[in-house]
Amino acid sequence: GAPVEVPIDKLEPGQQITVEWRGKPIWVLRRTKEMLDILPKADPLLVDPECTVPQQPAYIKGRERAIKPEYFVCEGVCTHLGCSPTLKKEIGAASDMGPDWPGGYYCPCHNSRFDLSARVFKGSPAPTNLKIPPHNYKSDAVIVIG
Ligand code: FES
Repeated sequence: GAPVEVPIDKLEPGQQITVEWRGKPIWVLRRTKEMLDILPKADPLLVDPECTVPQQPAYIKGRERAIKPEYFVCEGVCTHLGCSPTLKKEIGAASDMGPDWPGGYYCPCHNSRFDLSARVFKGSPAPTNLKIPPHNYKSDAVIVIG
């Protein structure tokens, strides 16, 4: 599949868009400071908080799992059986996921849960974090997937 260009200059803080690449949904989420600040709090609850399983390109480091932390690029495909999880971005009491929810993604097929870096929570049937596709910045306003 050819690389896909994604304009991000119209993306609002907290907004996610989905594009298609190689037949797969690819999310681009513009994370707020609140969303980024809560990532460390999820670490103890996660299967692989350090992202040691290579579910991301080698140039993607750290719990933000992004080139620029503000823009999170991820394959929207559950690592259990391939459903597409839903963004549940509200945090804590504002969420319908319960008061301790740190924001993230929920797969309704068999109840897998992921944080706002798509790192999988313990107790989920999904074995690994979601995949980050190869991508780069063509400019500050355009991400290229692939
Ligand atoms: Fe997502 Fe089973 S496909 S939990």
